[in-house]
Amino acid sequence: MKNIIKIHSRIPSFNQTIVIPGDKSISIRCILLGAQANGKSKFYNLLDSGDVNSAINAVKSLGVKIKKKKTFHEISGVGLNGFEYKKNLVIDCGNSGTLARLLCGMLAGYDCEVKIIGDKSLSRRDFSRVVRPLKLFGVNFQNKKKKLPIKISGSKFLRPINYFEEKGSAQVKSSIMLAALNTPGITSITSKPSRNHTENILRYCLRLPIHIAKKRKLDVINLEGQKNFKSFDYKIPGDISSAAFFIVLTLLSKNSKLKIKSVNVNESRTGILTILKRMGANIKLVNKKFYNGEHNADLLIKSTKEFKSINCPSSLNTKTIDEFLIIFLVCAKANGTSRFNKIHELRQKESDRLKFAAQFLKKIGIKVKEKYDSLTIYGNPNLKLSGNFIVKNFLNDHRVFMMTCIAALSFGGKFKIHDKNSINSSFPNFLRIIRKLGAKIN
Ligand code: S3P
Repeated sequence: MKNIIKIHSRIPSFNQTIVIPGDKSISIRCILLGAQANGKSKFYNLLDSGDVNSAINAVKSLGVKIKKKKTFHEISGVGLNGFEYKKNLVIDCGNSGTLARLLCGMLAGYDCEVKIIGDKSLSRRDFSRVVRPLKLFGVNFQNKKKKLPIKISGSKFLRPINYFEEKGSAQVKSSIMLAALNTPGITSITSKPSRNHTENILRYCLRLPIHIAKKRKLDVINLEGQKNFKSFDYKIPGDISSAAFFIVLTLLSKNSKLKIKSVNVNESRTGILTILKRMGANIKLVNKKFYNGEHNADLLIKSTKEFKSINCPSSLNTKTIDEFLIIFLVCAKANGTSRFNKIHELRQKESDRLKFAAQFLKKIGIKVKEKYDSLTIYGNPNLKLSGNFIVKNFLNDHRVFMMTCIAALSFGGKFKIHDKNSINSSFPNFLRIIRKLGAKIN
């Protein structure tokens, strides 16, 4: 029973201020880049979670020292190409697609064989998307499969590439940039815009020769490699992908107000704010700050009585990729029919989130139309639940678990929700914050 929670009542009204844990994408990038810097880097408010611990263990296994101090992590970087040579090294990336894919790029210049493994969820995800460009650099992959486990052997003689990244995947783009760091000459990537934390760290923290231009709505990134860089310090802001659950909880609750302090609101991540505001949500950004190329702000959210439906422009997809699940709950309560197109990448996440969303919404009485690449949700502004619901997770997906909790706290009914431990990968204190807001959870 330990891994199951019960929620039997809606959350009472609240008016509070909360702080959200550090951004996962920035935390993982800080570790991988700090490991290759010359000297000691300090990272404040690094996310304390399974995915980030896997990243810490990965660089430790390559000979990098990391100390956890009272308010920061200190990483003693070994410089570009400074990793210890080890035979038969196996790196376990756990649940983290970001770590596994970025690691492949980071190991491009490491001419030792490394086996990369992951949990059940990660082992079903596609790796051909990083194998393809990395092979062009001159990296060897022993197995032909598109999935983990994979064996990668880097090379001391990498050649720069000119690559068109068509998925709008920040993981693929970042993997290529990490390989480019170890490659002589200029690597060029043309890609659909996606989260740009790697570019920002390279430019604002490491001062590397990176040039970014816009060409017909695409980003063209040119990065010159084999330039050593100094250590850097970073105060990691709150993760908007974690804040998302509390934004929606507040919107769907009665007479409630919430302030979420210091959240990363980088333009490439705020699709959720654009979509919810268009649907009528009461959300304000205050106290905006610019730091290391990133915008951060406090979010003020108020309960909202009525929501309009949305025909979501697919240009917002990469900016919203991890938040669709929670946005679908608002669509369930909206007045009218909401449509999301070109969202098949949701099937490639920690689980098939498109399939889960469709099944879950049907379970709670919402009509949906699911196609391979789209979801249509027929909203019901009077949605209120009674009766019993048992929700089993798909492959221990953290966001599936958290979305289900928010549905239970917002719509009522008696919920039994499985796989609580999934939250460890991104947001271990999720339930603690929910309880602090006044929810009753057994
Ligand atoms: C991430 C990029 C996104 C996102 C993931 C984190 C990153 O994946 O879904 O949770 O840190 O680069 P894709 O870039 O594959 O869409």
